Amino acid sequence: GKGLAVFTSGGDSQGMNAAVRSVVRMGIYLGAKVYFIREGYQGMVDGGDNIEEANWSSVSSIIHKGGTIIGSARCMDFKQREGRLKAAFNLISRGITNLVVIGGDGSLTGANLFRQEWSSLLDELLKTNKITKDQREKYKYLHIAGMVGSIDNDFCGTDMTIGTDSALHRIIEAIDAIVSTAYSHQRTFIMEVMGRHCGYLAVVTALASEADFVFIPEAPPSVDWKNKLCNKLEQERKSGQRLNIIIVAEGAIDREGKPITAELVKKVVVDNLQQDTRITVLGHVQRGGSPSAFDRILGCRMGAEAVMALMEATPETEPCVVSLDGNQAVRLPLMECVRRTKAVSQAMADKNWDLAVQLRGRS
Ligand code: F6P
Repeated sequence: GKGLAVFTSGGDSQGMNAAVRSVVRMGIYLGAKVYFIREGYQGMVDGGDNIEEANWSSVSSIIHKGGTIIGSARCMDFKQREGRLKAAFNLISRGITNLVVIGGDGSLTGANLFRQEWSSLLDELLKTNKITKDQREKYKYLHIAGMVGSIDNDFCGTDMTIGTDSALHRIIEAIDAIVSTAYSHQRTFIMEVMGRHCGYLAVVTALASEADFVFIPEAPPSVDWKNKLCNKLEQERKSGQRLNIIIVAEGAIDREGKPITAELVKKVVVDNLQQDTRITVLGHVQRGGSPSAFDRILGCRMGAEAVMALMEATPETEPCVVSLDGNQAVRLPLMECVRRTKAVSQAMADKNWDLAVQLRGRS
């Protein structure tokens, strides 16, 4: 059977285990020899026990667990050709030429580069007698299928990344808890949520929790935001609301690109309205805990599709990313999605907010 390996890379997210489980079982079902690579790209570079054959039962009882049982890392070695050469050798010595990578855009870009270099890496291994001519011929094609595991929902091409739904569950639960205490004391709470440079978690959270104001990176507020914020909070209090909730995305910025932090927002509220104000930074709680039903099923579906893509691959097949599009599992060209994702960051760097919102909306 074909040699296939699965690994998780970058920040963990809920539902990664469901995806790993699905890859292992679908792979075995379709006759592949399936391996885990532990600790992401680092495990691929280091080899040894990090690359281990998986069997049907090695993925039992993991679907309900948060994080990733095979570990994840942000790896520097793989960024160097030397590291990628070691990784190629470790894969070839086990007959692995099919990779399923579960991670964010950085991890997927790394996989694409690896594939582009594959041929020259193999040539170098042959020249230095690390592999035989037969191996060079037998393993000349590397196939890659990616899926996006991230709580941020920051990847173009997929409706939802694996982990986002669970993170939202965690955030909403926390806000509901905050609301009851805020109500009792007539307080204003500023909640900072994750998402890096993506405002998705913040926007959805604000809508679902009936927040009064939200700050996100893609659509910085107008220059008079401090007045607008204070007027809005005041107006809600006057109409009988006992509390205010403000959601700040961790990457929120103003129109000049300067951070709008929870501290800054608090200062504006306290200085102008003298409201009793507290900050809650949810942090990694958002990335932990058990995956929601949605993320479990999403991981299962994406994992199965990724394996099928690899099993059907021909030498010409380009790396794909498996995505959710209108509740359908689809295969999209990996680099096209990465390019579109980077275009959002570029639009934000160019302070072209209309474009940033438009591109994000399409993602
Ligand atoms: O990408 C997921 C994420 O949780 C972001 O929302 C956040 O900015 C970042 O990772 C935190 O990274 P770390 O876990 O390395 O602190």
